[in-house]
Amino acid sequence: MESNISNLFAISSMTLLLLLVKPAISDSQINLLDIGCSQYKAPNPEVFLRNVNATLADLGGQLNNTNSTGHFATAQQARGSDPVYAMVQCRNYLSTADCLACFAKSVLQIRDCGGANGARVINDGCFLRYESNSFYDQTTVEGHKRICDNRTISQRSGFKVAVERLLSNLEVATPRIAGFFAATKEEEGVIGSGAAAYGVAQCVQTLSKSGCEECLKVAHGNLGRCLPDADGRAVDAGCFLRYSEKAFFRDDQTTNLTPFLGKGGSSKNKAIIGGVSGGASLLLFVGVIIFLQLSRKPKKDRKGKESSSKIFILLSPSVFVSTFYIKPKPLILSLYLLGPQ
Ligand SMILES: *[C@@H]1O[C@H](CO)[C@@H](O)[C@H](O)[C@H]1NC(C)=O
Ligand SMILES: *[C@@H]1O[C@H](CO)[C@@H](O)[C@H](O)[C@H]1NC(C)=O
Ligand SMILES: *[C@@H]1O[C@H](CO)[C@@H](O)[C@H](O)[C@H]1NC(C)=O
Ligand SMILES: *[C@@H]1O[C@H](CO)[C@@H](O)[C@H](O)[C@H]1NC(C)=O
Repeated sequence: MESNISNLFAISSMTLLLLLVKPAISDSQINLLDIGCSQYKAPNPEVFLRNVNATLADLGGQLNNTNSTGHFATAQQARGSDPVYAMVQCRNYLSTADCLACFAKSVLQIRDCGGANGARVINDGCFLRYESNSFYDQTTVEGHKRICDNRTISQRSGFKVAVERLLSNLEVATPRIAGFFAATKEEEGVIGSGAAAYGVAQCVQTLSKSGCEECLKVAHGNLGRCLPDADGRAVDAGCFLRYSEKAFFRDDQTTNLTPFLGKGGSSKNKAIIGGVSGGASLLLFVGVIIFLQLSRKPKKDRKGKESSSKIFILLSPSVFVSTFYIKPKPLILSLYLLGPQ
């Protein structure tokens, strides 16, 4: 009992601490969400920082190359005593100019880490990171977190439902999309006047599909706990997930997720209908075979005729269900039509 109370106390003081260190959130894409510097100094800061400068220049050049997709780049100076591995990623809804602006701001922010042998900066619109070891395959690491905007709580009924569906769909679809990026909108209630939620998910392009899945699963778990706040972000080494009550990308930049949801999507109704029609078609199949076997018997046998019509009556409901929930196969349908004659 006592330990329960002290646990509760520990949890609530931790929550309080988390609330106190929350950064301010604005709609600007250059909105600092997280900055972290390694506690260790590079052995030779002079060499290390020269290598950092070279990789940052390389990253900027790649982002500014109109031939590339322009939202993701890695660069390294791997030779010598103080190697540097660096990565930058912009959200795909940013233009090249906005992406370059976000990158330029991140470069200024990351300078605060001085001679540390690792640093990362995460903004709404982009992130930048460098380390003395390769980290390109990192999915989820200690330090992953959620940043909830607790200043505004959505008053719209259905907002929570819309966000939950949004996050589930993003988690399932994004790893299946080339480039690992999706922006989408979900509405709950009457279209146009219900509650809307906007969201994006993005994985680092050097991850595998399963690495992206793993990272987004953790991010979804973190972010779900921001509700009913009107805005929230989850950040990690390998991915980014955000939802908002307000649109933060253009309508024509949304991704059609439908082709990527398939099995494992969040539509429970589909699964139920699938189960019903699956069961009904099996019943129908077995029934049709029994029916055909019985109809082959000589017509003289009155008893046989009776039982075959009984079976037909028994089968009718499943035929009804099947024709409603599955596209009727012409063969089965014609068997059904021929049956009672
Ligand atoms: C939101 O966070 C601030 C501190 O950042 C805190 O003072 C306030 O009580 C929190 N509001 C809610 C509704 O949790
Ligand atoms: C790296 O670039 C910054 C900004 O341009 C400059 O101030 C610094 O001296 C450079 N460091 C090295 C070691 O070249
Ligand atoms: C991007 O490239 C163009 C030329 O292709 C150059 O004029 C411009 O200054 C570059 N911008 C940045 C931020 O490097
Ligand atoms: C872009 O591609 C064209 C042809 O595909 C090439 O001529 C040009 O040099 C490339 N530009 C850059 C900046 O790589």
